[in-house]
Amino acid sequence: MNNIYKGLDLDRIVKIHAPATVANMVCGFDILGFAVNEPYDEMQIRFSDKSGITIINDDEYNLPTEPEKNVAGAALIAMMDEIETGFGFELTIKKNIKPGSGVGSSAASAAGAVVAANRLLNDRFDKENLVRFAMNGEKLASGVKHADNIAPCIYGGVTLIRSIFPLDIVALNAPTLFVTIVHPQIEVKTSDARSILKHKVLLKDAIKQWGNIAGLVAGLLQSDYELIGRSLEDVIIEPVRSILIPGFDLVKQKSKEAGALGGGISGSGPSIFMLSKDEATALVVEKEMKSIYEKLGLDHHTYVTTMNHHGVQFVS
Ligand code: HSE
Repeated sequence: MNNIYKGLDLDRIVKIHAPATVANMVCGFDILGFAVNEPYDEMQIRFSDKSGITIINDDEYNLPTEPEKNVAGAALIAMMDEIETGFGFELTIKKNIKPGSGVGSSAASAAGAVVAANRLLNDRFDKENLVRFAMNGEKLASGVKHADNIAPCIYGGVTLIRSIFPLDIVALNAPTLFVTIVHPQIEVKTSDARSILKHKVLLKDAIKQWGNIAGLVAGLLQSDYELIGRSLEDVIIEPVRSILIPGFDLVKQKSKEAGALGGGISGSGPSIFMLSKDEATALVVEKEMKSIYEKLGLDHHTYVTTMNHHGVQFVS
């Protein structure tokens, strides 16, 4: 047996679930995100006799299988660059998180792949390094490295990305929160949603924004639902991006009237998320969302779920 494989179980198959994530958390563009329990991607990985990375799609999305064009492949390539060569991986991906939906589909693929491969390698890399590898998938998908989907997907819960160069990730405690998500069936590419953003902000807007970010973090840590609700306000990104999402203002207004604490665009959209204190409210919010999109005649999909506190989960 080659030394590279010393101590590894070459016949092992690792199966994982990689959760969807909500990036930005309204006011924290590129620096805040959280994981949810539904939906999630299913993946399995094993060592392969073939060198390099073999990707098998087990879903309807026809995503590229060339590793360098696939977000999971790009993340694995970054990981393999830091280990002795000689390994091959065979990765099977069943995506349940629709690409381009705004709930971290590419992050789930990239993060799930490196967490699963790391288990085959007897967990040689820590979570921060896994985030670093997985960000290469985000770079491929959106043109920019950002960790606000990747970090919560790997760590679970709410994560604050204080910095990506160098990486500085803070896992935040949060009270019980119910999450309602509506995905109007249109596609918004993250790269497009980023390209329309203004590059300069007014100082008065920046002051409002960092007040909200600090308020949201304090509200989460102190389980202060009112403070969380008041802080879910974005005066910089939302006014620009929300025009890409039909019904956005109405969804926000009706959800809050139904008792939601607040919410906004999930990642770069088109999904919209709302946070509620209890499940009953989250279900009423779902009803409001459905009724709005039915009236608009726009196909949509909804989820009522909770925050996921464990991140990528091993199934075997
Ligand atoms: N923070 C990123 C953005 C998340 O809003 O562009 C993309 O999912």
